[in-house]
Amino acid sequence: MSFPFTRMRRLRRTEGLRRLARETRVLPQNLVMPYFVVEGKKMREPIASMPGQERLSVDLLAREAKKISALGIPAILLFGVTENKSAEAAEACNPRGIVQRAVAAVKKAAPDLVVICDLCCCEYTDSGHCGILDPDGQDVDNDPTLELLGRIAVTYAAAGADIVAPSDMMDGRVAAIRDALDVEGFNQTAIMSYAAKYASAFYGPFREAAGSSHFHGTRKTYQMDPPNAREALREVALDVEEGADLIMVKPALPYLDIIKTVAENFPLPLAAYNVSGEYAMVKLAAAQGLVDERSITREILTAIRRAGADLIITYHAREAVAKGWLQD
Ligand code: PBG
Repeated sequence: MSFPFTRMRRLRRTEGLRRLARETRVLPQNLVMPYFVVEGKKMREPIASMPGQERLSVDLLAREAKKISALGIPAILLFGVTENKSAEAAEACNPRGIVQRAVAAVKKAAPDLVVICDLCCCEYTDSGHCGILDPDGQDVDNDPTLELLGRIAVTYAAAGADIVAPSDMMDGRVAAIRDALDVEGFNQTAIMSYAAKYASAFYGPFREAAGSSHFHGTRKTYQMDPPNAREALREVALDVEEGADLIMVKPALPYLDIIKTVAENFPLPLAAYNVSGEYAMVKLAAAQGLVDERSITREILTAIRRAGADLIITYHAREAVAKGWLQD
């Protein structure tokens, strides 16, 4: 017998053999494309912190939605950007608010596209925090925020949202939202909970995009502490008990271990959010010629799938599919 007997390189010899032996693929149907929607008409504002991304007005978003649908990407995630901020985040519940109008327009333009609404107060509070502040203004007050989240969710559902995605990290929000939706007759509106959402520095570019960067203090009193892994299992378990239909880990790339553990422990569809900072690093490095954008994007998205995510929410979605970056 000649040595070495086992030759791993046999299946790496050609692209055909590598394709044959490939364990993980990223398909368009694994992706969700996020959008920021602004007031006005024919508005297309480039987002400086996220090269290649734009804030769109409702009319242009509706056109964009048709393209996303034609590319085979099944869903979009909407964030509203508004100047109309207040202590109580009243604008978030406006049935004619920016997100509510965007949902209706997208559903009309692309009825098969799944519309997910990010459900949070930070784009609507004057504090920029993800909920209503307690009387001394020092921290987010959990329980009054729950009631508000329920009311926002009902307006998104009434506008036609398929899924609401609470990203605030208040305790008990999934049950409160489920209850509010059911009471109003929206028992078919699904909840995708940002179940394990870490207090991450990778959200920096997003906050410029969404107009929520003005907040003082920290989100560490509600978002998770990055060193903790077991705590993620408790967070996810609570959201599942409270009625979440899909669960999410966020960010993605620095938390692949969390994605894997959650995937192994819970039988629900699992999403991972490849967030703004992860995206911006790739774009800036590629613009400098330091990395090959196609290869690095493909490698990142494949790694997130390999860790166990069924869905990847990613700003790369449109470009990666349109340019065929994910094809073998
Ligand atoms: C709102 C929200 C944030 C993100 C999604 N929903 C920002 C935050 O928590 O500060 C971040 C998304 C990204 O960075 O791409 N709570």
